Amino acid sequence: MAIKLLDQEKGPHISKYIYGQFSEHLGRGIYGGLYVGPHSDIPNVNGLRTDVVDALKQIHVPVLRWPGGLFADTYHWQQGIGPQKDRKKIVNTNWGGVTEDNSFGTHEYFELLKQLGADAYINANIGSGTVQEMAEWVEYMTMPGESPMATLRRKNGQKDPWKLKSFGIGNESWGGGGNMRPEYYSDVYRQYQTFLPQYDAKHPIYKVACGPNEDDYEWTETLMKNATKYLDGISLHYYTLPTGDWDHSKGSATGFPASLWYSAMAKAQLMDRLITKHTAIMDKYDPEKRVNLIVDEWGTWYDVEKNTNPGFLYQQNSLRDALTAAITLNIFQKHADRVSMANIAQMINVLQAMILTKDDQMVKTPTYYVFDMYQRHMDAQLFDGEGDVPERVTYTASKKDGELNVSLGNYDLTQDRQIVFTFSDTYRDISDASIITGNKMDAHNTFDDPNEVVEKKFTGASLKNGQLVIDLPAKSVVSITIKS
Ligand code: AHR
Repeated sequence: MAIKLLDQEKGPHISKYIYGQFSEHLGRGIYGGLYVGPHSDIPNVNGLRTDVVDALKQIHVPVLRWPGGLFADTYHWQQGIGPQKDRKKIVNTNWGGVTEDNSFGTHEYFELLKQLGADAYINANIGSGTVQEMAEWVEYMTMPGESPMATLRRKNGQKDPWKLKSFGIGNESWGGGGNMRPEYYSDVYRQYQTFLPQYDAKHPIYKVACGPNEDDYEWTETLMKNATKYLDGISLHYYTLPTGDWDHSKGSATGFPASLWYSAMAKAQLMDRLITKHTAIMDKYDPEKRVNLIVDEWGTWYDVEKNTNPGFLYQQNSLRDALTAAITLNIFQKHADRVSMANIAQMINVLQAMILTKDDQMVKTPTYYVFDMYQRHMDAQLFDGEGDVPERVTYTASKKDGELNVSLGNYDLTQDRQIVFTFSDTYRDISDASIITGNKMDAHNTFDDPNEVVEKKFTGASLKNGQLVIDLPAKSVVSITIKS
């Protein structure tokens, strides 16, 4: 059984922003996980954990969405600037009712981006904020000349404006962000975006409207009908719950039965149908595909770990997450002509995280390694393929700098598969090949054993007679780069 990879002249561009991340003021997503403050015993640079930042630099985080999520619609940015000791302490009403001391604010966020080399994606507060508050925040961040907010920014130590690449106007406005109806939200969106200052005509801020929850096609229809010309992207939120049950048990992150492995895979695959259907509606109003679908919250969502604050959404991350990540990233790449950014929820210690921390310790999760392996597809050209794909196998292919990249997942728990790729070009060398797999379906890393599931060199691929032959083990993700 062979898959022929089609050397398209102009396959869609796979935006590197598909590999974006999301960090909210939620549990230990920021405090403790990323930001420990400059006086911490944990090694840090300007308050940001050196170990975590160094690990994230290896996966080249392209963009980081902040400050929420639900938190965004309670966030008042002026409380998070100026001397930290004077910042207002508030209650994080969405997440655990804990005190939020605002020590991580706009300046700390841009410091983090600088250390990571990532771009900014900020979500405005339209739920409990005002148009003026939003406009002044953008003025504070981006006004190059003389103005009240630019003066305040300089007084707080930042002379030059920052680059604000993308800006979200509304988060889950259909739910916790205001319980709005789509007609009303469309008007609120139109109003807010009118007052979004754009000081750099050459690099306008990219405007993201709150799009649908999962399969709410009516939301997409109404928003596109009423606001297409005012927006650049619309968001989509979809989480993978193995049980599909938000109200009772979502399922455990580890120690689950095989049935919940397979249902997680099936739920992750639903992303394809969601994107296809929302895209079909968008095509009606935007046939040129100017407007993008931004999947700015996705990932697995399980029951929290025992003895942790239920509001902190702290969960383990196993080989199952590596496979659902691969399935989802392959889907995003397939839809690269519409999906130009995605942000997994969430980068550290929350939901499907890259990294888990405990005091001064950290572990990289299986999901981290998938993001590491998939870097080869960032800003590459998508390759289509034709031929039969074995059951329970998912793959994606791209070309960059003359090299061909293939990533595959085999989510069958017991069956190894052989996959053969053929091409019209000649490739002579395998320049890089990695695998992540494990003995158990819930294999995961702990603080006592941080290397139970890690990326390893893959030796099961060979180039024979112009074909790439891959022996793909059960429950594994593999990425291969070949060159001519
Ligand atoms: O990612 C956790 C939460 O999930 C976000 O705050 C919210 O937008 C979504 O419901």
